[in-house]
Amino acid sequence: MKGIILAGGSGTRLRPLTRVTSKQLLPIYDEPMIYYPLRTLLTAGIKDILIIIAPDYAGDFLKLLGSGKEFGAKFTYEIQDKPEGLAQAFIIGANFIGDDNVTMILGDNLYEDDFSQAIRTFKSGGRIFIKKVPDPERFGVAEFDDQGKVISIEEKPKEPKSDYAVTGLYIYDNTVVKKAKSLKPSTRGELEITDLNNLYLKEGTLDVAFVEGEWFDTGTHESLFAASQFMRGKKLSKNPN
Ligand code: TTP
Repeated sequence: MKGIILAGGSGTRLRPLTRVTSKQLLPIYDEPMIYYPLRTLLTAGIKDILIIIAPDYAGDFLKLLGSGKEFGAKFTYEIQDKPEGLAQAFIIGANFIGDDNVTMILGDNLYEDDFSQAIRTFKSGGRIFIKKVPDPERFGVAEFDDQGKVISIEEKPKEPKSDYAVTGLYIYDNTVVKKAKSLKPSTRGELEITDLNNLYLKEGTLDVAFVEGEWFDTGTHESLFAASQFMRGKKLSKNPN
């Protein structure tokens, strides 16, 4: 299993903070944001990691993370020239992925959960993680049938069919590269991960699990602040001095 951290994008909702640095380098309490998704992958046993970044602050990521040796891992870097969508990661990362399966985590997503088992037990198809949220219209939203089975996923719907958002960690088999290459850009000009998930869903190979612990998508000032506060509480209770 290989890992990808997707840490490009433009971070427009976090301006003016993101005028002078990248969103994923901003602090969450006492560490740069990207440390949290990185730790999620490392804890799950993934040590071969591709970090996809935007051109603007690429040098800063290298300075912060280096070769990966310090983390007991190996890091590879690729530039995404323009923010053309989450699913583009699997085209940019095609060579890195090779013949392996891959877990991708968004560089601005912070999880309390340990995904070791979900990754260890993964065999084929896709596995995504959903969470009940108060503002589903910001995310990909799952639609369920009477039996509680997910039947479709809609990207940022105006009228969400449930309160369950698809969160930013995705486990895929090697067919993800071929699937990503088959996608057409959406009306907003992006290769959508929701379209990718719907391809797996149509094939009957998408496993949908629930996020159990806290989860933050830290792309807004509110959520950035909430995540910092949460991590501060967690770290201080573990190590009061
Ligand atoms: P978003 O938060 O959806 O987009 P953004 O980071 O550009 O922020 P904003 O909407 O405020 O302008 O992206 C989710 C994560 O995916 C984030 O870590 C950035 C990353 N990303 C890419 O690396 N490339 C992309 O093409 C997109 C759309 C996002």
